[in-house]
Amino acid sequence: MARELIGDMARSIAAASLPVLKRAAGVVTRRLPIPQPLLLVGAGSAARLGEAIAGFAHRRLLLVTDASIVRLGLAEPLVDALRAARVGHVVFDAVLPDAPIPVIEDGVALFRAENCDGIVAFGGGSVIDTAKVIGLAAANRKPARELAGYFRGLRGPGPIYAVPTTAGTGSEVTVAAVISDPDGAKKYTVADTRIVPEMAALDPLVMAALPPDITAATGMDALTHAVEAYIGGWATSYTDRVARAAVATIWQQLPRAWRDGSDLEAREKMALASTWAGLAFTRANVGNVHALAHQLGGRYHVPHGLANAILLPGVLRFSLPQAAPRLAQLARHVGLEGADDRALAARFVDALAELAEGIGIGRTVAALREKDIASLALAACDEADRNYPVPRQMTPADAAALLREVLPGPGRGAGARIPGAGAKRGAER
Ligand SMILES: NC(=O)c1ccc[n+]([C@@H]2O[C@H](COP(=O)([O-])OP(=O)(O)OC[C@H]3O[C@@H](n4cnc5c(N)ncnc54)[C@H](O)[C@@H]3O)[C@@H](O)[C@H]2O)c1
Ligand SMILES: [Fe+2]
Repeated sequence: MARELIGDMARSIAAASLPVLKRAAGVVTRRLPIPQPLLLVGAGSAARLGEAIAGFAHRRLLLVTDASIVRLGLAEPLVDALRAARVGHVVFDAVLPDAPIPVIEDGVALFRAENCDGIVAFGGGSVIDTAKVIGLAAANRKPARELAGYFRGLRGPGPIYAVPTTAGTGSEVTVAAVISDPDGAKKYTVADTRIVPEMAALDPLVMAALPPDITAATGMDALTHAVEAYIGGWATSYTDRVARAAVATIWQQLPRAWRDGSDLEAREKMALASTWAGLAFTRANVGNVHALAHQLGGRYHVPHGLANAILLPGVLRFSLPQAAPRLAQLARHVGLEGADDRALAARFVDALAELAEGIGIGRTVAALREKDIASLALAACDEADRNYPVPRQMTPADAAALLREVLPGPGRGAGARIPGAGAKRGAER
C-alpha cells in the first residue's frame, strides 16, 4: 500500500515537472549547435558524392542499404566512383523497414569485423537511421538499445555520408534515428547532434523508381514534419522559414511526383522540401501526429509516412483551438483564402485532407483494433508528454478518440488497398 502510494506520488511529481523540463529542453534546442551536412544537389549528385568521399582517404567504408536498392542498382554510380578512386567498401544490405535493433547489431558486427572507418547510408529513412546507430554503437561499444534517448553515447560515430532515396524523413539532416524493437513492438528515438551526416546527396535520379504509394506516404511524412514544427512551441524564425518553404513546395510538387515518378524536377524539389522539413523539425521537434503514428508503426508496422498522413487531418482539427493562427499562416502561404484565422485554418486542414486523398492516401488503418486503442493512446500520450512541444496536449481519452477516427469500419473508407508495401504492412485507403 505504502509502496503504491509512493509510486503514485512519484508519477504525479514526474508529471508535474514535465512541462518545466520540456520548456527547459526548448530553450536548449533553440540554441543547440546542430551541424549541417554539406549538400550536393541534382541529378547525378550521388555519384559526385562518391567522388567527394574519395578525398577523405577512408580505409574501408560500410555501405548500408537494403535489398530493394540493391535490386534496382541505385547505388551503382556511387560505388563505381569509390572503386575508381580505390576506396575499399563492404556492403551491408540487410536493412529492414523501421530499423529493427537486431539488424543494427548485425551491421555493428560487420563494421567491426571489417575494421571500417566510415559509413555511407544509401536508402530511405530506415537505412539512414540504421547507419547512424551502427556508427554510434560501434564507436561506443554499446548495444543499440542502450543508445535510445538523448546523447547516450560518450563518443560520436565516425563520418557518415548519406544518399536519401525517399523524400521523406529528412534524416540526412536530423539529429535523430528512429529504431524499433520487434520483440516489444516499440519504436525508440536515438538523438545526438553527432549522428548528423557530414555530406549528403539529394539526387532525383535515385528517387525516380520510387513507387507511387511510397512516394505519397513519404512525402506526407515530410509535410507532417513541416506542419508539426510550425505549430509547436519550439519554433524559431529559422524553422518557420524552412517549414513554410517545405509546405509550399510539397503542396505543389508531391502530386506531380506521385503522378509521374520520372518527373525529375518534381523529385528534386521534393528532395529539397523534405530536407527543409528535416531542418525545421530537428530543432522545433514534431508533435501529436508523430506520437500516435509511432504507436501504429511499432504495433502493426504501418509505414511511418502513411500513419502520419492518415492521422494528420484529425490531429490538426483537434489542435485548431490553439493552432488556428499558425495554421492560418500556412493557409495563406499556400494561397488559400478565408474570412478569418479560424476559417483559414479549417480550410487548410480540409485542403490537406484533399491533397492526401488525391494521392491515394486512405482514411483508416486496416490493422488497428479497438482492443488495442487504450494502450496505444496511453503510449502516445506518454511519448508526446515527454518529448513534444505540442500546441494542444492530448489526454488518453483524446488520443483514443483520434485513433477511433481512423479505425476501419462500415462507411469508413475501408476497402480498396494500397498496392505494394502499404498493403502488405496493414493500411487501407
Ligand atoms: N531520423 C529521422 O529524423 C526520421 C524522421 C522521420 C521518420 N524516420 C523513420 O524513418 C523510417 C521510414 O523511412 P522512409 O519513410 O524513408 O521509408 P523506408 O526507408 O522504410 O523505405 C520504405 C520502402 O521503400 C523502399 N525504397 C526506398 N527508396 C526507394 C527507391 N528509391 N526506389 C524504390 N524503393 C525504395 C525501401 O526498400 C522500403 O521497402 C521510419 O522508421 C521512421 O520512423 C526517421
Ligand atoms: Fe516522420
